Amino acid sequence: MDSIAILDFGSQYAQIIARRVREAQVYCELFPWDTPMEKILAIQPKGFILSGGPRSAYEDGAPYVQDFIFKTGLPILGICYGMQALTYALGGQVDPSAQREYGYAEIEALVSSPLVSSLSTVWMSHGDRITKLPDGFVALAGSGNSPFAAMGDMKRKYFGVQFHPEVHHTPNGEKLLKHFVVEICGVKPNWTPASIIEDSVSRIRKQVGTERVLAAVSGGVDSSVAAALVHKAIGDQLVAVFVDTGLLRENEGEQVASAFREHLGAELLTVEASDEFFSALKGVTEPEAKRKIVGEKFIRVFEGQAKQLGQPKFLVQGTIYPDVVESSAPDRNKAERIKTHHNVGGLPEDIQFELVEPLRYLFKDEVRAVGEALGLPESLVWRQPFPGPGLTVRCLGEVTRERASRLRAADAILLEELSKAGFLGKRGSSSSSTGPGSTICQANRTAARTVSQAFVVLLPVRSVGVMGDQRTYQEAVAIRAVTTEDFMTADWARLPHDLLARVANRIVNEVDGINRVVYDITSKPPATIEWE
Ligand code: XMP
Repeated sequence: MDSIAILDFGSQYAQIIARRVREAQVYCELFPWDTPMEKILAIQPKGFILSGGPRSAYEDGAPYVQDFIFKTGLPILGICYGMQALTYALGGQVDPSAQREYGYAEIEALVSSPLVSSLSTVWMSHGDRITKLPDGFVALAGSGNSPFAAMGDMKRKYFGVQFHPEVHHTPNGEKLLKHFVVEICGVKPNWTPASIIEDSVSRIRKQVGTERVLAAVSGGVDSSVAAALVHKAIGDQLVAVFVDTGLLRENEGEQVASAFREHLGAELLTVEASDEFFSALKGVTEPEAKRKIVGEKFIRVFEGQAKQLGQPKFLVQGTIYPDVVESSAPDRNKAERIKTHHNVGGLPEDIQFELVEPLRYLFKDEVRAVGEALGLPESLVWRQPFPGPGLTVRCLGEVTRERASRLRAADAILLEELSKAGFLGKRGSSSSSTGPGSTICQANRTAARTVSQAFVVLLPVRSVGVMGDQRTYQEAVAIRAVTTEDFMTADWARLPHDLLARVANRIVNEVDGINRVVYDITSKPPATIEWE
């Protein structure tokens, strides 16, 4: 498959560039800027995109464009720092600007070029600027602050833009990227769900041959789509296992099992292990300790299951591309590392399996598109994220069977009411990319009648209430409902008061042991989505 190599110079937008290129149905991969030549050329790129980055191209030790890239003779597009690094490498001049330029800017085309002809408003974020173009280049567009807002060397097919075409704040920016990859690099736009499935199926068949393959399905999108892909490739050689930890949402196991049976014609083996989980969690209240216990228990139960099944050689994992990229990216944004603690439910490295990772090169929206193309139901493909350690992170204090049931019942009421009122579903789970932080909240707010994630948290707090003529002294729950595009930042959902009233009323009336309901009105940051 034709592809594009994107070199990451430490930009917070590097993944977004990759997503825009994929949206143009062109396969691309992201590499840290200093990745060895063999690794980059192994994907046989037909062009390079150089990302932005926080450094100055003229500083000692600054990331640079490796020489082999020029030697390939392939087209290059430099974005922001990428343009400056390109300029610097080719003998142009890069200097500090008098003032950092951040925000919207208007550009004007200086020559007729299809690369920039559809753009006028663009998003800038740079401290340095180009003061002299390298030989062979002409200015394609200028702005008040940047005389060289875009540059090109038509002969060598080298281009640079000072702004960020990949962010939503640059209207039509995606057209620039598409023009570069399709017209200038000549890549055929054939990266579609159908081609992804075809490619994966043949890879999986080649990898596993006639061996049996085990998959742990959690009800999450990734593990379900990964298992569905493997099932399409090898049918009954796949054994999909669902571990009922007792820490799942209402009807979770049945829903996933019926989705598999009805839509894929595949059986899901359910392992009832809740006793083991609750006894291991007995008396434990510290959040990290609870996570660890669930993670370890899960592995033990799963290993036992594998043994009973005659120790299949292969194991399916739903690793997706952002996990892969984040573990190898240049040190850019510590905030992203916060997510490492989310992998608690993962499997240890020494486990005796060879991994099958059919989603390893897919972004979340591609995973969903593949899931839909495979015939998985919308309810599974557009499911809300659910933490690996399950209800443990939402059951504050000790997790007992009784408290988990209480939480599950309250949660089911919230989800039922939200669903009836049309707040759940596809639109609410949008995973399209984000622009700079300050505007994410605006985007979140415009997702008016949808929520991206909603759940109930059981608090280790009891308070006095009155029911009938009786004094009560029972637990409280918090409702958490957020809108977000990427779950890295989120805003609390402005749910209608009537809806909240209905939910609170039903919870207190229908769930034993809860006499108070509060609504969480903090955004992320400073709060997180889950409470723990
Ligand atoms: P926070 O709480 O960090 O969560 O704002 C961000 C998103 O990640 C989900 N989350 C988890 N997912 N294992 C997971 O698979 C976990 O341990 C975990 N903790 C949080 C959370 O539901 C939210 O969507």
